[in-house]
Amino acid sequence: NLNAKLVSRVLLGDMGTGKSSLVIRFVKGQFLEFQESTIGAAFFSQTVSVNSATVKFEIWDTAGQERYHSLAPMYYRGAAAAIIVYDITSSVFEQPSDSFAKAKKWVQELQKQGNPNMVMALAGNKCDLEDKRNVTAEEARAYADENGLFFLETSAKTAVNVNDTFYEIAKKLPRA
Ligand code: GTP
Ligand code: MG
Repeated sequence: NLNAKLVSRVLLGDMGTGKSSLVIRFVKGQFLEFQESTIGAAFFSQTVSVNSATVKFEIWDTAGQERYHSLAPMYYRGAAAAIIVYDITSSVFEQPSDSFAKAKKWVQELQKQGNPNMVMALAGNKCDLEDKRNVTAEEARAYADENGLFFLETSAKTAVNVNDTFYEIAKKLPRA
């Protein structure tokens, strides 16, 4: 569809939080228990209807490993929207795998260096692992509200709130 509104977005977040799993759930409707860690970045595209408009999502799925951090600006600079992902089971006592703290650092970096009109969403992924939860939804929502982010808890495994995370941002973006 040549009239599709184009929405480019980027996923950022610590390694292992489930960025690739969220994109693969959204684009292919699949989930892998043993998803391979991303090297550099991966590109996906998906065309969907949102509120009777056709939207083409172009998605950059970045690698969360620290050694790839310096590549991130290449992907977020051109993005209209960012999804910052943390893992709700991450513990502050398990440095350096405190993915919620890492998510806050990404938000700061985007606020400083990103496109000022960028729409940002915070996704607390792996919400199917309620018994292993270490970050409360209240804490994350309070942080998201303070920083003007859209917040949802997601599960790439069960598909909870995955499409919503992608669609909600499309609704917030200005009409093409
Ligand atoms: P990097 O590419 O290294 O930055 O990691 P990533 O953020 O892309 O994480 P990835 O999607 O590779 O997922 C890491 C692991 O978490 C995989 O074994 C997934 O199966 C698992 N995983 C991802 N999302 C979920 C989820 O919602 N629930 C559960 N239980 N496991 C998940
Ligand atoms: Mg990945």
